[in-house]
Amino acid sequence: MIDPEIGFTADVIRDPSRFVGRTDLIRDCISAINSSTGLISVFGKRGVGKSSLLRQLQQIALGEYALAKRAGIGHLIPSKPRTYLTVYYTCDSLIGNGKELLSRLCNDQNAEDSLLRLVPDDGKEVIEFVRSKEVSAGADLKVVKWGSKGVESSKYAKVVQNDIVQTFRNFVDSIVLHQVKKRMKRDALLIILDEFDVIQDKDGIGSLIKSLTTSEVKFAVCGVGRDLSDLIHDHASVERLIEQGVLSVRPMPPAESEAIIVRASELFKGDIRFEPGIGTKIADLCQGYPYFVQLIGKQCVNEANAVNTRLIDHSVFDKVVDDLRTGKAFPTLESAYQRAIGNSTDRQLLLHLLAEQPTEQSLFSDEIGRIVLKASRQVAEELNVQFVDQLMPRLVEKKYGPVLERVPERQGTYEFVNPVLRQYIRLRQL
Ligand SMILES: Nc1ncnc2c1ncn2[C@@H]1O[C@H](COP(=O)(O)OP(=O)(O)OP(=O)(O)O)[C@@H](O)[C@H]1O
Ligand SMILES: [Mg+2]
Repeated sequence: MIDPEIGFTADVIRDPSRFVGRTDLIRDCISAINSSTGLISVFGKRGVGKSSLLRQLQQIALGEYALAKRAGIGHLIPSKPRTYLTVYYTCDSLIGNGKELLSRLCNDQNAEDSLLRLVPDDGKEVIEFVRSKEVSAGADLKVVKWGSKGVESSKYAKVVQNDIVQTFRNFVDSIVLHQVKKRMKRDALLIILDEFDVIQDKDGIGSLIKSLTTSEVKFAVCGVGRDLSDLIHDHASVERLIEQGVLSVRPMPPAESEAIIVRASELFKGDIRFEPGIGTKIADLCQGYPYFVQLIGKQCVNEANAVNTRLIDHSVFDKVVDDLRTGKAFPTLESAYQRAIGNSTDRQLLLHLLAEQPTEQSLFSDEIGRIVLKASRQVAEELNVQFVDQLMPRLVEKKYGPVLERVPERQGTYEFVNPVLRQYIRLRQL
């Protein structure tokens, strides 16, 4: 049995040796990391590869440039790259506003990624560690023991009661002075905030970030969105900070999706092979979504294991596609699909019509992925789908996914929340 996880993963890619493609974005990361001030923003559709890019940004901030060298852009590495200590925090929808975000940052106890781990404190034991297997890897710091006073942030230096902004500033100042400068002799602290789009009230966050950004403290924010204004509402206040750091993550070109299969084959070290041509077929099914490539790749390995072969040929691949079409291959996507249609064959048909609506495939269009109900209504009625308007609510209701989101500025226009699910529906048999 070959373990599919050796070559494929549904997880965020942390290890640079597993990261495929995105050379332009890596180039942007290098220039953003090496500019002394400025905010970095990363945005794109769900599942397109934002967090994985963010983890590579973190590596670059630590001075780890193996990925850039492998991508053939080694000449862009400055002779003295700016180096950082890093904080990585993933936001969630219970964070109400900017102050609550700072409070979370001051209290998070993650041993490798939190801000609190870097705040100097008596008795706390912090050691250097590297985030990748590369020999050149730059070190970061992690906590191995939180110290005699425990992990309550109020026990740490300079907490100002009822003033989280000042407390945060004090934490950051002491980190910069003691850890960044004295201990590690780095240039700055990088605070990476993933899933920034889910923070409920983003008013004023732009100006907050602006006031906290210095040549020694840089922020990177990331989330689902079409541009910076989806992440930071008062983006006017950060406009001058964003000259270099606007990273828009688009679906992958087919050659890069295919390269994921090639990279996986290398990781399997010949224990399992893909017959030539299969990679192209997988890339074609996945429409630029690396998550789907990873899932299908993994399923191919599972299927090869099941029929006891080490060669993923057309018969293995066809079986995977067949299982996909009949809902047997990907239980998570299948249950999202079933939840949305909810035992209604009419809704099922409507959902397929919507998913199949041709949308502009232009990588540079804002309209990417949008669909218009009107365009499918007529076909639906021709196919005897009754009461289209009564079928729609379930598709936009949170409880059932949702599969679709209304585009507020355009009446009758929707967007598939998860483009991978949309592609799944297209491939799924009715
Ligand atoms: N450059 C890459 N090379 C190989 N696989 C990738 C790459 N980028 C992303 N993936 C794969 O795609 C999937 C989604 O990646 P990731 O979690 O980074 O996306 P995301 O945009 O942050 O998603 P979400 O919107 O759900 O947060 C993962 O399975 C990951 O393994
Ligand atoms: Mg993510």
